[in-house]
Amino acid sequence: MQKISPARSLSGSISLPGDKSISHRYAMIASIAEGRTRIRNYSTGADCQSTLGAVEALGARVERQGTEVVIAGRGLRGLSAPQADLDAGNSGSTIRMLSGILAAQPFRSRIAGDESLSRRPMQRIIQPLSQMGAVISAREGKFPPIEIQGGPLAPIDYTLPVPSAQVKTCVLFAGLYAAGQTTVREPMRSRDHTEIALREFGADLTVRGKVITVQGGPRLEGRDLAVPADLSSAAFFLVAALLLPESSLTIRGVGLNPTRSALLDFLKGMGADIRILDLENRNGELVGDLLVRHSSVRGGVIEKELTAALIDEIPVLAVLGAASEEGLTVRDAGELRIKETDRIATVAENLRRMGVPAEELPDGLVIPGRQRFRAAEFDSFGDHRIAMAFAVAALRADAPSAIRQAGAASVSFPEFFTTLESVLA
Ligand code: S3P
Repeated sequence: MQKISPARSLSGSISLPGDKSISHRYAMIASIAEGRTRIRNYSTGADCQSTLGAVEALGARVERQGTEVVIAGRGLRGLSAPQADLDAGNSGSTIRMLSGILAAQPFRSRIAGDESLSRRPMQRIIQPLSQMGAVISAREGKFPPIEIQGGPLAPIDYTLPVPSAQVKTCVLFAGLYAAGQTTVREPMRSRDHTEIALREFGADLTVRGKVITVQGGPRLEGRDLAVPADLSSAAFFLVAALLLPESSLTIRGVGLNPTRSALLDFLKGMGADIRILDLENRNGELVGDLLVRHSSVRGGVIEKELTAALIDEIPVLAVLGAASEEGLTVRDAGELRIKETDRIATVAENLRRMGVPAEELPDGLVIPGRQRFRAAEFDSFGDHRIAMAFAVAALRADAPSAIRQAGAASVSFPEFFTTLESVLA
């Protein structure tokens, strides 16, 4: 249970943990590369530790020193059979992306996860991997634990039924092991960290619009890499600064990959004062400092492709929406119901607890604007992004609030509450 008192403003300058999506990918690719990979600012979140644990169990040597991780890769064909079930914890990225590599190994592996992960759908990876030749079984045919009997894979040309960077990555990883070309076609461009990272490690990969092709059998080589701060974690601080009067906050070294930064365009389009300073390219990823100042925002609609581009930020945008002038409507967000929690339900429930009459749609939310935030007892329901979104809401409330199961934040951002404390006035 975490208590959060209302605050007047947020100011100063902060650094945040490394991007979760990029950290997973660097660790997985490093484990099948030749030689040593050094990763600076590796995500401190529990999800990315699950990935490190899994690649270690598959024979890669992992050394951790603070936020620096060094991985001795085993080469494309050098992983070994794990002695026990691989544990993905709460991490959908770990189970879905790593499965692409496991599908090609000459051994059987089983991956399990926590209660939340055990309810998340896996057909989306089972289907293409089975088509490539892997034999996969899952609880009720679709839920973790999943058991993968790997083997030789055939290349495929696969059209993703739903935009998902995790599924795209899974198929591209499997494609590294298939003889010839594997192609993934996306309905819209999802985050492209895998494409950038694979090229950094030396894979032969081409991108033409929404069509990505990878050549099987590359020689991947260990690299020195630095992970930018996670924009999805920065989102909580951006919204907090926008909400609290007199705020002026700098967030250093944030990943601003164009397939992730729709958040900034959306916020700026609503009137947010956010500036990008010192943009640079690091290992193929754009990185910059963000300066955010308190602003009154209009509100708006998140729908169609924008929904997919903002999917991880919707919980905290919902909080901002309730304080905006016109409110926020979210549509086409069925995917939110199958995240770490049913985020349509958990966001609506917490908004109602603070007196905001949010309306749940089957695939979205309608949130009225100009709301006064009442102090409340929130619940993260075990979901990291819900814990952090409602910590931000609590800063605007009329009295101290509490968040149950606030420790869930450590899934992506263990330092969240101490970092928040450090910039509050
Ligand atoms: C992620 C992709 C998204 C996102 C998740 C991380 C990734 O999931 O919601 O937090 O790192 O590829 P989907 O692939 O299910 O859309």
